[in-house]
Amino acid sequence: MGLDLGTGGARAIAVNLQGKLVAQSTRSCPLLTPQPGWTEQNPADWVAASLNALTDVAQQMGDDRVIALGLSGQMHGMVPLDAKGNVIRPAILWNDQRTGKAVEAIEAAIPRQELIQRTGNPAITGFQLPKLVWLRAEEPEAYAQVHQVLLPKDYLSYVLTGMFATEPSDASGSGCLNLATRQWDTEILAALEIDPAWFPTVVASTAIVGSLKSEIADQVGLPSGIPVIAGGGDNAAAAIGLGISANNLNRGSLSIGTSGIIFAPCDRPIPDPQGRVHLFCHADGGYHLLGVTLAAGGSLRWYQETIAPQIAFADLMQLADSSPPGARDVLFLPHLAGERSPHLDPDTRGAWVNLSLAHTQADLIRAVLEGVAFSLREALDVIHELTPLKQLLATGGGARSSVWLQILADILAMELIAPQAEEGAAYGAAILAMVGVEAYPDLEAAFQILLQAGHSVQPQSNPAYKAAFQQYQRLYEALKTVR
Ligand code: XUL
Repeated sequence: MGLDLGTGGARAIAVNLQGKLVAQSTRSCPLLTPQPGWTEQNPADWVAASLNALTDVAQQMGDDRVIALGLSGQMHGMVPLDAKGNVIRPAILWNDQRTGKAVEAIEAAIPRQELIQRTGNPAITGFQLPKLVWLRAEEPEAYAQVHQVLLPKDYLSYVLTGMFATEPSDASGSGCLNLATRQWDTEILAALEIDPAWFPTVVASTAIVGSLKSEIADQVGLPSGIPVIAGGGDNAAAAIGLGISANNLNRGSLSIGTSGIIFAPCDRPIPDPQGRVHLFCHADGGYHLLGVTLAAGGSLRWYQETIAPQIAFADLMQLADSSPPGARDVLFLPHLAGERSPHLDPDTRGAWVNLSLAHTQADLIRAVLEGVAFSLREALDVIHELTPLKQLLATGGGARSSVWLQILADILAMELIAPQAEEGAAYGAAILAMVGVEAYPDLEAAFQILLQAGHSVQPQSNPAYKAAFQQYQRLYEALKTVR
């Protein structure tokens, strides 16, 4: 089984040893936004959603026997526990932006260049370590009780097994894992006067953390004692589910969900010296670069909800197709939620520019689709400086549109492979679990059961995009002056 703890909820699946999905359930989970820019969730809600999803899957199982459960989850969140293992306050999530001052404090204690060399990334508002520094400054009574600090999926593994552990793909999103050793960087923690004992043991992503507690097993209807496998952060786990590993450095993935993500595997920790894209550990024992456009599908959803609520998704795409490449000079900056790659700027905002009376809704929508692609292209250009990526497996809701896929292939100037089917991070967690209990000797052997890739979308070079991209790249700096 695989269990993925997303921001929207928990998804549990069962996959047989031939790679076929045999059962699935998704249970939603409330998001708390106590102040603008703050995002939190109650770990008790994660547990309820996860146990309900596991119960649903257990009921659908028929004669199949569960041999292991692998975990994946939203990265970067902070779950603080007291000495009794109780949650001290709601978890602060990956997309929370409250930690600007904490980020400055971290970079004052450890120079930015050194942080990038050690951890793969500068201090970033969404990461876990700044949240802990924020807690010390803003909620000292809560901070005084801290005994353990966990990532979201590792909190679930604690509830399921009673054991504290994490694995490198998620731990490297904390901001204090040393990428070379794949262990906590005690010098960074010492410089910040944070106790390294608060962080769980780092085991391999395929390692068994513990076994399913009997009281939980009884509650969800699964046999007790099932091995629970550490798993991976959601992006790493999703990549495992697509067979993306350091064994083929040419192939990465492009996911167009709420955010847009380019995932590029690498065999060594090679950070961008300026930290413009993330570098994390992969769940295969290697590493990966990650370019993140925060509002990808999110930009289109915003457009539909606020400007065109009466137009269906497919019709929006048709309209976009009726505007020519370059959207008749309209440009869109998709910074509706701030931006990660390559600017790392939570305060940047979106815009359309070059509007005239001649422009139509078709141009506006096409500009949104192209603007998201330009933003990803900026991240891809940084990735190209570091690794030889040649092809991307496309996933997520946005990849279901042939219009958007062609725009993305053309602007990224890269072959995209449209998937036949995709099961996301939970599927990768299940694959990690199979290797964890030696149903397959290693990940390469397990990859043989994955679904075949779908059809190829070849990039077509278009001078209109070249010109538009040059203008797009000047937008961020230009619009900074009117904030
Ligand atoms: C990656 C990131 C997101 C979260 C959300 O850096 O912030 O992909 O993992 O699920």
